[in-house]
Amino acid sequence: IQSLNNSFMNIINVVGARPNFIKLAPIHRALKSIPNVKSQIVHTGQHYDRAMSDIFFRQLELPEPDIYLGIGGGSHAEQTGKVMMAFEKVVEQEQPDLIIVVGDVNSTVACSLVGAKSCVPVAHVEAGLRSGDRSMPEEINRIVTDSISDLLFVTEQSGIDHLNNEGIRKESIHFVGNVMIDSLIHFREKARQSTLLDDLKVSPGEYILMTMHRPSNVDNVRGLKEMKRIIKALASHKKVIFPMHPRTKGNLEHFGLYESIGHLKGVHITEPQGYLEFLNLMDHAALIVTDSGGIQEESTYLQVPCLTLRENTERPVTIDLGTNQLVDINAGAVADKAEEIFNGSIKKGEIPPRWDGHAAERITAIAIQYLNKHKTGKVDNQVTNRFSEPVS
Ligand code: UD1
Ligand code: UDP
Repeated sequence: IQSLNNSFMNIINVVGARPNFIKLAPIHRALKSIPNVKSQIVHTGQHYDRAMSDIFFRQLELPEPDIYLGIGGGSHAEQTGKVMMAFEKVVEQEQPDLIIVVGDVNSTVACSLVGAKSCVPVAHVEAGLRSGDRSMPEEINRIVTDSISDLLFVTEQSGIDHLNNEGIRKESIHFVGNVMIDSLIHFREKARQSTLLDDLKVSPGEYILMTMHRPSNVDNVRGLKEMKRIIKALASHKKVIFPMHPRTKGNLEHFGLYESIGHLKGVHITEPQGYLEFLNLMDHAALIVTDSGGIQEESTYLQVPCLTLRENTERPVTIDLGTNQLVDINAGAVADKAEEIFNGSIKKGEIPPRWDGHAAERITAIAIQYLNKHKTGKVDNQVTNRFSEPVS
């Protein structure tokens, strides 16, 4: 199988933060299988701790990044600006044929802006999601990234609807499925070898898995105090396992609340977990309580009940079809919902369309076809046929 007329393609995949690595893995795997495609990884360094970055490359069987920008933390403008300045040099030097960005983090918007202004085609994976809440930094990143991308790869129908409403060209929009679910399917068996449940002394189906890191929930003392009340209420039902994001830990420490949460009865605060450990924890949880974007989707696929501590979600399919429910960020409301679930009132879910483990293959086929057309004006049916059924 050839890319087309042996023409060589240099594709840059951008990643920066934890959920990006999980989305990149299947895309890189699919791209690597195409001769004449050079699939490079640029890691901006937005996340940099071993537990937030390195461990994912190892567990997801990704090579070391080809280029590491080492940006780190900072205010939104600082972080976005630093990524743009560093990535512009990469684009000048590498002259890529395509830049692939995933998700909705600051690295995503920064690199899509650089790509668009350098006249390099940009593909956005996980396009079209909208929470409707512009106080959420990710919402701004999504709107900007989608508006300047050339290829928009969508995970659910709401994404297509939003892009249509925003006047995006129909030919750019492709409903491919969900690369985060590609990773889940690929690694689920391997994750089952994790010994973490034993190490934490919990049995399958006998614990609640919790994460929280949205600035609106954890950047203020009121939110943190409510989080503490929620954890306490949940722990009266079942043991709570809470792998803690560094933002949350940092804020709890700042407000002097970290110790007291750690000492709550029935609560186990851990470091952020590796992908395989966390996947296994999700797979066997009685209930997941979170404000994460990706975890809403993973719990839907695993058909584990999920309470999302947010006022809205950009992933409505997890509510319409999946096991996810939005719940008020209030200990009483969360306790009531948890009790309903433990009393057997469990929302039955189904797996959303095209969340079948083949999203990255569809993305690869469409991207190569697009590049062939872009570069030579011709279409290569070999690659397109090789990767699964036609996409709309
Ligand atoms: C970022 C994304 C968010 C995503 C989350 C995934 C933006 C605007 N936000 O949020 O959409 O849900 O990643 O986890 O892009 N820190 C460390 N070590 C690390 C990484 C972060 O200590 O490896 C601490 C630093 O103090 C840093 C802070 O966490 O300043 C916030 O990190 P940042 O990447 O800016 O935002 P997140 O909250 O992680
Ligand atoms: N995750 C992980 N370890 C953890 C917490 C989360 O591997 O301790 C994974 C999780 O399975 C999901 C992704 O990280 O695939 C979600 O990242 P996060 O919640 O940080 O970001 P969001 O999806 O909200 O942007």
